[in-house]
Amino acid sequence: MFQTIEWTSAGTVRLIDQRKLPVEEVYVECRDLADVAHAIRTMQIRGAPAIGVAGAMGLALGAKTIRTDGFAAFFEELSRRGEELLRTRPTAVNLAWGIERMKRCAEKNRDLHVPGIVQALIQEAQAIREEDIRGNRQMGEYGKAFIPDGAAVLTHCNAGALATAGYGTALGVIRAAHAAGKRVSVWVDETRPFLQGARLTAWELQKDGIAVTLITDNMAGHLMQRGRIDLVIVGADRIARNGDVANKIGTYMLAVLAKEHGIPFCVAAPMSTLDLSLKAGDEIPIEERSPEEVTTWAGIRIAPVGISVVNPVFDVTPARYITAIITDRGVARPPYGASLEALATRA
Ligand code: MRU
Repeated sequence: MFQTIEWTSAGTVRLIDQRKLPVEEVYVECRDLADVAHAIRTMQIRGAPAIGVAGAMGLALGAKTIRTDGFAAFFEELSRRGEELLRTRPTAVNLAWGIERMKRCAEKNRDLHVPGIVQALIQEAQAIREEDIRGNRQMGEYGKAFIPDGAAVLTHCNAGALATAGYGTALGVIRAAHAAGKRVSVWVDETRPFLQGARLTAWELQKDGIAVTLITDNMAGHLMQRGRIDLVIVGADRIARNGDVANKIGTYMLAVLAKEHGIPFCVAAPMSTLDLSLKAGDEIPIEERSPEEVTTWAGIRIAPVGISVVNPVFDVTPARYITAIITDRGVARPPYGASLEALATRA
């Protein structure tokens, strides 16, 4: 079994290079914060919860090299380094969540000497990783009831072990249903332009021995019309207070199609993906990535030189299209304003 990201005994951060999958299974070793920032920006590691863990571990690496004795100066520099990590990717709120949690940990330990605070931060980053895996298993337990025996499930992008510290969110729910003995087959969208579905989700599910069929992104409507999809389940990068969900570009299209065909559309995400500071999805910043991701494929040009391109890599699915949001604290149902708040305030 592969490890998405881990803190090593040598005090470095080791992560599987997701740009190389599924052809090569190679690991990258990050020795400092800059290495982690580079890994997030270039998508060696990606997926909302995984970058939350990477951000926390990156900040722990960053904390190790702050040279000061006083807490105030230490905290100021830690915050500055946190900002550096935050600039890598804007949409998934888990990154900000991970960094905020690390800063709170530093504040809680402010009475220790700096080496003691750094030690606490290293432990906190590892705890965030472990909690993420536990949370995903919990989500799987809550979510498996949504998958009937014999169901054909469509998923988009990669919301699996690779997008988290392990087990996955949407794929975690599928894994839990499979482990409970349900017969489940999965349709995987290739997920242009970065191909997280084809390269990563297909790879993960195949490794697990779960029946998987790869399709291109324009095939879902046809399959729904022919009655070949029973449920759609995706992850999330940020969820606003009203239940609007930002996820990989193309998710909104699937939600609209699912509604048209009377197919349940579920989102699986940990509470760290919920951003209560945002009233609705239109406030979520949408990352725009390089045009080359669209005009080239594996280094080969597939569009004319000089063509105009837009590359927004997430979209927002309005809450009204979502049947349920499965979290690590339980399942939220419409109206989401009330149900998400109830989960958030539950001890
Ligand atoms: O651009 P990416 O690959 O980081 O986008 C990832 C997604 O959109 C996932 O579906 C989302 O983070 C949920 S992961 C559990």
